[in-house]
Amino acid sequence: MNKQNVIFLTIAFFLISCGGSEKKTAKNEVVESEISTNELEKGEQLYRAKCMNCHMIKGGGIEKVFPPLANSDYLKKNREDAIKMVKFGSNKPIKVNGVKYNSLMPASGLTDKELVAVFNYILNSWGNDYGQVSLEEVEAVKR
Ligand code: HEC
Repeated sequence: MNKQNVIFLTIAFFLISCGGSEKKTAKNEVVESEISTNELEKGEQLYRAKCMNCHMIKGGGIEKVFPPLANSDYLKKNREDAIKMVKFGSNKPIKVNGVKYNSLMPASGLTDKELVAVFNYILNSWGNDYGQVSLEEVEAVKR
């Protein structure tokens, strides 16, 4: 191999590796815009441990006592407020799908990261198709 070939190959190698890393970034962006199965599983585990007792396994709640999360117009329309309620607890009167609720939900005690996982789970389970939350969005929710 002569010197010119070596230089050519070195340049080609750099071009390929740069191209490669660009593709990787693009791929990471795609992954970020969907919720990974891993994240959904984490959310489901948290849901079972921290929310299911009241909101029930399929998110149906118990009418007039614990509001539903499945097909909840409240969750769909007041996402920021819903995050606030789960983050800090809530006992204000609310209406979900036309039914009044005014019982107590204690603060979840979850970290912001865990809240992201559990919200992405409830926003996308039991037929809900309510989009997704980011860590920035959850962090921005203050009392
Ligand atoms: C001790 C029972 C209890 C637990 C545990 C509980 N909730 Fe709630 N949740 C409630 C009650 C009661 C309300 C209505 C609160 C009010 O009237 O202010 C509510 C309201 C909500 C709402 C808004 C209303 C709606 O139905 O869309 C969301 C969203 C929610 N809870 C999610 C969660 C999540 C996520 C968890 C687990 C991290 C959780 N809850 C744990 C009892 C509970």
